[in-house]
Amino acid sequence: MGLYGDQVLPRIVNVACDVKVAREQRERVCAGLAGEVVEIGFGSGLNVPFYPGSVTRVAAVEPADVAWKLAASRVDAARVPISRAGLDGASLPFPDDSFDAALSTWTLCTIPDVRGALGELRGVLRPGGRLHFVEHGLAPDAGVARWQHRLEPLQKRMVGGCHLTRPIVELLHGAGFELEQVDRYYEKGSPRVLGWNSLGVARSP
Ligand SMILES: C[S@@+](CC[C@H](N)C(=O)[O-])C[C@H]1O[C@@H](n2cnc3c(N)ncnc32)[C@H](O)[C@@H]1O
Repeated sequence: MGLYGDQVLPRIVNVACDVKVAREQRERVCAGLAGEVVEIGFGSGLNVPFYPGSVTRVAAVEPADVAWKLAASRVDAARVPISRAGLDGASLPFPDDSFDAALSTWTLCTIPDVRGALGELRGVLRPGGRLHFVEHGLAPDAGVARWQHRLEPLQKRMVGGCHLTRPIVELLHGAGFELEQVDRYYEKGSPRVLGWNSLGVARSP
């Protein structure tokens, strides 16, 4: 990806995504996670402090070596074993039906093959397994959506392939997930083009 994408961007994300408004959403999205969990786009482990006591093991899927290094202190301090078990959410190296739950926070915007990743998650989740997610995506307001389409090429270049216009709930339905709960809102303090979030739990039937 080059020096900026490999070295600089993971450090920016580590700081920019560790703000109060994000931490509040991390706490909400991690609530109820239990058993063996796969987290795609693990990043620098900013969700680790919010894993509930009911989680027994976490398989981290993260392509960026620098992000994984930045995660070291959080991984070491975690109460549950966490291993870096994969590099690409769209190609998960696990047998089918391996996990009780999955976690994705602000990652479905970035994975190039997002449909492939959701299909992989369906495969590795046990029947009835749940994907906990908080993701930004295509806003319902036409004016905001227009700007999202305009700015998306720049956003992709500046932020490691991050899309502004992915329709998160529709993508989950398209992959065969059943939405159990979803809260959709503009994130406090964020520009609207970036701040239309969907936070919820989707069940793999
Ligand atoms: C905006 S960051 C979010 C990081 C983390 N989930 C968080 O909440 O802080 C997007 C993450 O997706 C990761 N990513 C990019 N392509 C990926 C892929 N194909 N599979 C899994 N993760 C990927 C990036 O390296 C980065 O860590």
